Amino acid sequence: MGKSIFIALLLLVGATILFFKSTNYLSGDKKVVEAPVEKRSMWKAPDYELIPDTKQGDLIRYGRELISFTSKYLGPHGTIAHISNGMNCQNCHLEAGTREWGNNYSAVFSSYPKFRARSGSVETINKRVNDCLQRSLNGEALDSGSREMQAIILYIQWLGKKIPHGIKPYGAGITDLPFMNRAADSSRGKLVFALKCSNCHGSNGQGILNSYGNMYLYPPLWGANSYNDGAGLYRLSRLAGYVKNNMPFNRAINEPKITDEEAWDVAAYINSRPRPLKNYRSDWPDIKLKPFDHPYGPYADAFTETQHKFGPFVNIVNKQVPAH
Ligand code: HEC
Ligand code: HEC
Repeated sequence: MGKSIFIALLLLVGATILFFKSTNYLSGDKKVVEAPVEKRSMWKAPDYELIPDTKQGDLIRYGRELISFTSKYLGPHGTIAHISNGMNCQNCHLEAGTREWGNNYSAVFSSYPKFRARSGSVETINKRVNDCLQRSLNGEALDSGSREMQAIILYIQWLGKKIPHGIKPYGAGITDLPFMNRAADSSRGKLVFALKCSNCHGSNGQGILNSYGNMYLYPPLWGANSYNDGAGLYRLSRLAGYVKNNMPFNRAINEPKITDEEAWDVAAYINSRPRPLKNYRSDWPDIKLKPFDHPYGPYADAFTETQHKFGPFVNIVNKQVPAH
């Protein structure tokens, strides 16, 4: 009798752990399972040279080209269409979506289609790409039958082809930084920006165009040509996590990264500057699934919009109901 109760208890604990592991209650998205710890070698993208010399291979290469130099094709002076703000996908998905912790695409093919709480529906890769076009590039969707959309999807599939379904490799996407005990402080962030960011991104965060004027050498961080308020980076944790591992861009490998505090504070500064406003009110139809740092109410808890935007986040997260 005692033994079977013990076994039942063990099973219960195991099931609870599995439940929490498979549910990303912080981001509100159903989560693909992270690779087991012992298999956590850093993801490496397949070798570009191995893209086959076929018609399909040509499309994969075109997809990579579109991700790297989006503005040349789809920007305000684009040769294919004028449907985005002049940024490149690569500005945020570094090295054409291949860099570790550089918001890479390694987990996309293995995890889509998936349910996303932001739209409250099952999303395809196609929909997710258009999400970034409309929000991060403050533009318009690509037609799903277009050669450009096909090429982008084929490239993303090719990158992730070795990852088993449902697995998120180590180094995928953007890192989650530990929380601070205080709210992120935009006035401290302003100082970080002046010291460590403005030399490239411009003192007004507006970025610097190349000499042809068709692409950014240094992309804008706010203002008319930046991501809009429905974009992933408009959530503080996404911006801080991205900046922590990837900026300043020219940092030597052995140079220390900026501190977590600097990353949170500079993110608060950047996201309190003006940018295109869309306020997608139909986002997160189930408000219980909103991530802790979603910048717009209504919320399922009593914390203010300001606290959801800038923190402190610990008590918000502790009170949050896990999504399932
Ligand atoms: C301003 C920055 C920015 C730009 C530019 C941008 N994205 Fe994104 N993208 C993000 C962020 C932030 C996320 C969400 C990452 C997270 O939540 O961890 C994301 C997520 C994605 C995902 C889903 C990744 C996953 O693992 O679920 C895809 C696919 C994607 N972007 C494609 C694109 C494409 C294609 C372009 C160009 C047309 C583009 N993005 C441009 C910031 C950007
Ligand atoms: C040496 C120049 C340089 C410095 C310094 C630098 N950046 Fe960047 N940053 C870049 C470049 C270049 C890119 C685009 C990378 C690419 O396209 O491959 C970028 C991209 C970004 C992006 C994503 C694209 C966008 O415009 O939204 C953010 C956010 C960002 N930087 C924030 C920062 C912050 C914050 C700092 C200071 C802590 C900083 N950067 C310092 C060069 C720099």
